[in-house]
Amino acid sequence: MALQASSVLPSALSLHKEQGKLLDTGFLGVSLTDHHLKSDFSPLALKCKRESNQRNKSLGPIKAQTTATTLGVNSATGEGKKTLRKGTVIITGASSGLGLATAKALAETGKWHVIMACRDFLKTERAAKSVGLSKENYTVMHLDLSSLDSVRQFVDNFRRSERPLDVLVCNAAVYQPTAKEPSFTADGFELSVGTNHLGHFLLSRLLLGDLTKSDYPSKRLIIVGSITGNTNTLAGNVPPKANLGDLRGMAGGLNGLNSSSMIDGGEFDGAKAYKDSKVCNMLTMQEFHKRYHEETGITFASLYPGCIATTGLFREHIPLFRLLFPPFQKYITKGYVSEEESGKRLAQVVSEPSLTKSGVYWSWNNNSASFENQLSQEASDEEKARKVWEVSEKLVGLV
Ligand SMILES: NC(=O)c1ccc[n+]([C@@H]2O[C@H](COP(=O)([O-])OP(=O)(O)OC[C@H]3O[C@@H](n4cnc5c(N)ncnc54)[C@H](OP(=O)(O)O)[C@@H]3O)[C@@H](O)[C@H]2O)c1
Repeated sequence: MALQASSVLPSALSLHKEQGKLLDTGFLGVSLTDHHLKSDFSPLALKCKRESNQRNKSLGPIKAQTTATTLGVNSATGEGKKTLRKGTVIITGASSGLGLATAKALAETGKWHVIMACRDFLKTERAAKSVGLSKENYTVMHLDLSSLDSVRQFVDNFRRSERPLDVLVCNAAVYQPTAKEPSFTADGFELSVGTNHLGHFLLSRLLLGDLTKSDYPSKRLIIVGSITGNTNTLAGNVPPKANLGDLRGMAGGLNGLNSSSMIDGGEFDGAKAYKDSKVCNMLTMQEFHKRYHEETGITFASLYPGCIATTGLFREHIPLFRLLFPPFQKYITKGYVSEEESGKRLAQVVSEPSLTKSGVYWSWNNNSASFENQLSQEASDEEKARKVWEVSEKLVGLV
């Protein structure tokens, strides 16, 4: 677990509330080479790897439509020649950081159309322009994950576009390490869990049928995780640690009124709320895998992209942190990963033929080679995954 030891969570340098001093993260020392992957994300290669277990047995109307389609290919001129059509991938939070870098990596292959699902249209258009995305390779669609209405509206809009859905990437997140008081989503959930987990939970549940219908050779649902939610790592042990407890706060609605705003029912802590939300992301991926992989053939995956110390995720941190964190990661821990490199990693999980295994939490080693990582006990607790799923279904109004 060299990478785990060399990677630090967002709050690793935080001025932690109780301690009032920089937390010591001097446990590291393994270098992560920031070289660029040479891999081609080509979906063309995927046709060799067409999943043998694309079974669409029990999703009712979805089955009928799936069997009516051909493979994800377009007939080309010439006898019997077929070309793979462009894949469509939705990436939430593609206006900056990892999401934007992934959109770029995929779009510039010319083989993907990226739906940039973002809350700020202008910012996203500018971001797309800034990294040189061509108009024909992306579409910006409005999505505010902190509003369940907006999530439903986004799904309607996407369906109206009549594009197929081949891959969904749940990437957006908020992180409020210095917040003294909780903030809330439009539906009254604590903001980090409400946005990072519940918004994505509803989105992916609503789009599951659309993904199932895809005739693309490898359809995938990816939920970005983090080392910070994994207490089996040194970084995951920097306080405050993730812990969902018995989910009493979540069951109570996370609204801070008749229940705590924290999943475990404890006192509000913004850094912990983020980590808890990441545990929910990783548990949700596994529960999806358990419930739907066999039936739909969809690959469900999560990942830790590395410590991308320069992204907007740290925007609410104190200025000193934002100044010191990137050089600290680069030169002290050597856990630093550039946005470009992280985007290539996530793009691999979207499209590499070698990464079709479902139920996996991917990480990368010192040589930027992907490997199946171990999740912490809590982040792989099957009973907890089931409970998070069931409570989440109630909170977002699916049951
Ligand atoms: N940075 C790291 O070291 C690191 C490490 C491990 C995992 N991750 C994960 O990587 C993912 C991306 O983070 P990042 O580092 O790239 O941070 P980032 O640059 O801040 O990107 C976060 C994205 O989420 C969007 N977002 C926030 N709230 C939203 C909402 N209510 N509705 C829709 N979109 C919303 C932001 O949109 P706006 O532009 O409108 O704010 C932004 O596009 C997250 O899941 C994070 O947990 C990051």
